[in-house]
Amino acid sequence: MEAITELENKIAHISKRKYCFFTGRASTALFCYLTSQKKKDVEEYIIIPNILCNSVPNTILNAGYKPIFVDINLKNYTISSESLKTALDVCGSKVSGVIAPHLYGHTFDYESLLKMKEKYNFFLIEDAAQTIPDNSGKSMVGKIGDASLFSFGHTKPINGGGGGCILLDDLNIIKHCRIIEKKLPKFSKFHEQLAIQYNKLYYIIRDQSKKFPTFNNFKKVFPMVFKDLYNFQVSEKLKIKKLIKLLEQRNEIITMRKKKAKIYQKELNSSIISHPQYSKDTIPWRYTFMSEYKNELEIAPKIREIGIDVSPWYSRLDTWYNLTFEQKYIPLNNSIYFSEHVLNLWLDETHTIEQIKKNCRKINQLLL
Ligand SMILES: Cc1ncc(COP(=O)(O)O)c(C=O)c1O
Repeated sequence: MEAITELENKIAHISKRKYCFFTGRASTALFCYLTSQKKKDVEEYIIIPNILCNSVPNTILNAGYKPIFVDINLKNYTISSESLKTALDVCGSKVSGVIAPHLYGHTFDYESLLKMKEKYNFFLIEDAAQTIPDNSGKSMVGKIGDASLFSFGHTKPINGGGGGCILLDDLNIIKHCRIIEKKLPKFSKFHEQLAIQYNKLYYIIRDQSKKFPTFNNFKKVFPMVFKDLYNFQVSEKLKIKKLIKLLEQRNEIITMRKKKAKIYQKELNSSIISHPQYSKDTIPWRYTFMSEYKNELEIAPKIREIGIDVSPWYSRLDTWYNLTFEQKYIPLNNSIYFSEHVLNLWLDETHTIEQIKKNCRKINQLLL
């Protein structure tokens, strides 16, 4: 059996879905799925939370849809069901789909989303790029909605150095995805270099636009300028067998991440820190929390100055895109607040438990 087919069967088995389509990255898998569902010459919207990485809305645009941004809840930073309902009422039949991420590994409120799916009739994509089901057989991750997305890119819980997939139960859609993928280029040096340029420009524009509001206009061209970054076939260099092995070891990886997250939760005890609510299904990607320190652009560099690697991901998405007219009826207050206060710390093998405890003590002192 070809290694990729073995990998696809393995991931489908883990998630108890019928089919898996593995490709260059999760964004490519999403692109193929969305393209397979796109109606010709009809304006269609896809709803996503306003806190998420840019690759999802960029892929929505690449596939010919428009993104609508909704708010998050401040308990676990995932999509707000109330805000989603507002958007569905405001946008009506233009909404074709909803993409709900288990952001930072926190499970979104899938029961309420599944009820809304019944009522409003949209396709629901579970974005599980930042998590993975454990092997207890009890996890809902990978089984929610019409399709589920996994990523194995750099920094993900299962870090295969690249690759991503979509899982579903409809053979015709899978076949359609494979036809669409055939027309895409293979991953190459060009994509690597484009990603470097993206990262350089992203941070310059993101930071400078806070000081010079007209710089926000540069953000709007990113999806078009970096279009090629999101769609490619699997790299010949990708180590498929290694990825299969990592998936088999996922419980050890999950246990270690949960253990480290608990330490952050207990040891980060400055009064200006607010922690997320963990559920039994949470498989944390980073340790993500909010600090009341004036704003993230000031505190993140200060934490880095004391030798701790921290990131203020993600910043609000709505400033990066041309918005639809309906967007002004959808309040985004939580996501705006979150975007100004979020911090992420590492849970992977680069940080030992001792180092995490030491870092917590240093951060507590800084945030006194
Ligand atoms: C929540 C989420 N969805 C989708 C993606 C896209 O995954 P990929 O980088 O494999 O295209 C990412 C990547 O960072 C992500 O964090």
